Amino acid sequence: MTGGHLQIVVCGAGPAADVTQLLAAAKERAWTAAVTATPSARDFIDPQVIEAMTGYPARFTYQSSTSTRRILPAADALVIAPATYNSVNKIALGIADNYAMTSVAELIGRRIPTVIVPFVNSALAARAPFRRAVADLRHEQVRVLLGADDEWEPHPPGSGRDQQQAFPWEAAFGVAERLARNGPASGGGS
Ligand SMILES: Cc1cc2nc3c(=O)[nH]c(=O)nc-3n(C[C@H](O)[C@H](O)[C@H](O)COP(=O)(O)O)c2cc1C
Repeated sequence: MTGGHLQIVVCGAGPAADVTQLLAAAKERAWTAAVTATPSARDFIDPQVIEAMTGYPARFTYQSSTSTRRILPAADALVIAPATYNSVNKIALGIADNYAMTSVAELIGRRIPTVIVPFVNSALAARAPFRRAVADLRHEQVRVLLGADDEWEPHPPGSGRDQQQAFPWEAAFGVAERLARNGPASGGGS
């Protein structure tokens, strides 16, 4: 019996290489998972490892690998992590200029419980467009893990490599699982 199906979207930032930690957390709780990556994230992840852990090829475009094409289960939750400055801004604006952004736009529109974990430095996080994007997404009931309450803060510019070790993969899965089980009100503060 499975706990649910987790759709994961990874963007082009260092922690993308560690998405295996999110896959392991989901597996531990008997969830299935599949990974879609933005075009920029292609350089950060190992598609073979992801396919071995999930049973599904990592998706980058509208076309999945013809040899391994499989219908994905319906998503019970969506985790976008690491979410770049670029993608957070695009998601908030509804921009769908690649497969990952298109699927995110649709899943949020279908009210699939969604958790976004940005990985941005404090200079990018201070920009007005980013702050507006986070506020708009929260207004749309998307759970953005960022700030003191979430114990996940933007890092000083140049320190991303250190911060990568602390990326809150397990917390992201825990929030997604709670949202899927109980609805948005249970996911903690927005
Ligand atoms: C080595 C490397 C590390 C990067 N780290 C980050 C990061 O931590 N956060 C971020 O927002 N962008 C980071 N970027 C920049 C993004 O990859 C870039 O903005 C890209 O356009 C994001 O595309 P995406 O949002 O479609 O994945 C990094 C780029 C490179 C090459």
